[in-house]
Amino acid sequence: MAPALTTDKAGPAEIADREPAAVRIENVHKSFGRPGAAQPVLDDISLEVRPGEFVCLLGASGCGKSTLLNLVAGLDRPTAGTIDVPGGRPALMFQEHALFPWLTAGRNIELALRLRGVPRPERRPEAERLLELVRLSGAYGKRVHELSGGMRQRVALARALAQDSQVLLMDEPFAALDAITRDVLHHELTRIWSETSLSVLFVTHNVREAVRLAERVVLLSSRPGRVARQWAVDIPQPRRIEDAAVADLSVEITEELRGEIRRHGQH
Ligand SMILES: Nc1ncnc2c1ncn2[C@@H]1O[C@H](COP(=O)(O)OP(=O)(O)OP(=O)(O)O)[C@@H](O)[C@H]1O
Ligand SMILES: [Mg+2]
Repeated sequence: MAPALTTDKAGPAEIADREPAAVRIENVHKSFGRPGAAQPVLDDISLEVRPGEFVCLLGASGCGKSTLLNLVAGLDRPTAGTIDVPGGRPALMFQEHALFPWLTAGRNIELALRLRGVPRPERRPEAERLLELVRLSGAYGKRVHELSGGMRQRVALARALAQDSQVLLMDEPFAALDAITRDVLHHELTRIWSETSLSVLFVTHNVREAVRLAERVVLLSSRPGRVARQWAVDIPQPRRIEDAAVADLSVEITEELRGEIRRHGQH
């Protein structure tokens, strides 16, 4: 089935009409460096993620995807513009799992629960529930070095979910995994997302991954990063990365991405 394809360039006025947003990014600029020699990285980004929406942010390496995600996470501040996350602090998941190696899988998750204020007697059953959710029941007592890369990313996902945030920010969380493990985790992430009311902002430079996962794909241009184009992905879930409709839309988006890279002199 061919995807019903729509493209738009939502400006701030349109964004204001679609209340409420889970994440609202308005006219955000970000530069690094000393005043006078500052390098603009993000230029006038306006974007929103609606409650429960799954948005993939796609762009060439170095275009500012991680920079934007860090701003939404509150790890850095925009040079200009505003970022609003009304539901409170988002949960984060990165390419590297960032688990504490001296703690077991279960204890890593319990730490997040403790920081959230979950009373001690409730932590272990909740950690076990979350491990079950990511299909890792039985891994509670395992240390990080005893887990495979895919298992570590599952624990990292369970720990992110333990924060009980309304927004989940993911920065290439599956980039280091083999294709089959990534495929399984795509399936699990889609399942968990559809079972919850999570809003997801997922960064990738893998076009197929973006189309496999997202309800909306946002393409950033490079140097500086701007919203170049957006696609609503109207292909029913669960999708498979090899579905014809996923492939067709990926071809179109890849063409645009190549155009962006050519325009900005990257290879
Ligand atoms: N703290 C910083 N100080 C100076 N420059 C930075 C800083 N963080 C990022 N940059 C620069 O901003 C640009 C965008 O970096 P960013 O990490 O956001 O790209 P990206 O789109 O996530 O790339 P990739 O796909 O390779 O992860 C790069 O040119 C990078 O060198
Ligand atoms: Mg990055």
